[in-house]
Amino acid sequence: MKDIVFSGVQPTRNLHIGNYIGALKQWAHIQQQHHCYFCIVDEHAITVPQDPKLLRERILTVAAVYLAAGIDPKRSILFIQSEVPQHTELGWLMMTVAKMGELERMTQYKDKSKKGGTVGAGVGLFGYPVLMAADILLYDTTIVPVGEDQLQHVELTRVLARRFNEKFGETFVVPQPLIQKIGARIMSLQKPDAKMSKSDESEMASIFLTDDNDTIRKKIMRAVTDSTTGVTFDPEKKPAVSNLMTIYHHMTGQTMKEIETAYEGKGYGDFKKGLAEAIITHMGPVRDKIEHYLSDPTSLNKILDSGRDKAAAVAEAKMKVVRERMGLGR
Ligand code: TYM
Repeated sequence: MKDIVFSGVQPTRNLHIGNYIGALKQWAHIQQQHHCYFCIVDEHAITVPQDPKLLRERILTVAAVYLAAGIDPKRSILFIQSEVPQHTELGWLMMTVAKMGELERMTQYKDKSKKGGTVGAGVGLFGYPVLMAADILLYDTTIVPVGEDQLQHVELTRVLARRFNEKFGETFVVPQPLIQKIGARIMSLQKPDAKMSKSDESEMASIFLTDDNDTIRKKIMRAVTDSTTGVTFDPEKKPAVSNLMTIYHHMTGQTMKEIETAYEGKGYGDFKKGLAEAIITHMGPVRDKIEHYLSDPTSLNKILDSGRDKAAAVAEAKMKVVRERMGLGR
């Protein structure tokens, strides 16, 4: 039987190679066998301040990124969250099922609200995982492929689905997270103990999908390494080099053993040169395709229109059941 897959990316700032390896690359693979929904989660993006004009531009860019990463609109449903209002509707209903304590434990909320303190943090930022649960539950999703940082949110989704089912009768499928073994958490090129993040202030910390070849070379050559020499995979003792090797593995398909053998007796300089070229070879065509899809907004809009209509039909059928089970309306 086919699984139903749902995942999404926020159209905030530039997407980076961590998003690509942790999420997009595995989506392209998973769509070969399963029924997939890939959403541009613009309503999640506004949980932190956004420039409206830039946000609209980024939404289309993310759609182009999905296609460039190999998402096939003939196989998968690609759509924008805010164009299917059932997401916010179910998000609200699930707010009445979630508990404050559960949301207070979410590490992403704790991190994001750290700077200004929880008193000044937006209520939307606090409730964000509940909207994510709604995204997933609307489609009877069985599998949610994400990077490690989203695992806690998928686990909350499972808790909310079970609670709802117990209270109102079997309504939602309880989904499973899908996290890959290598590459679920790509780290910053400058601070190997912090994940590569869209909100990092240093441009040098991330390889963006739009970076040109020289920028990729510069960023990799300046990436921090470990104090001990040798290209060996050991995330505990050599976190920086192991992170670079993880990227290398995803760019070339080579195993860690093969990478170690190729760079045996060589220094970090040689390894970094090889890594930069491997990134350029794999990501260069993706970057060119992003430009190609963005240059044809008519086709892009057609794909998003069709995705919206297909997603909305499924979402509305689910909402009819949910409203009735909860006793809403007439
Ligand atoms: P977002 O936009 O922060 O990230 C998109 C995807 O990229 C993964 N990711 C990473 N993977 C590996 N290494 C990294 N350094 C790295 N940084 C990000 C994320 O885990 C994610 O898979 N809340 C979600 C979006 C969302 C969603 C959903 C996802 C909303 N609704 C429903 C799945 C299902 C988010 O903010 O992702």
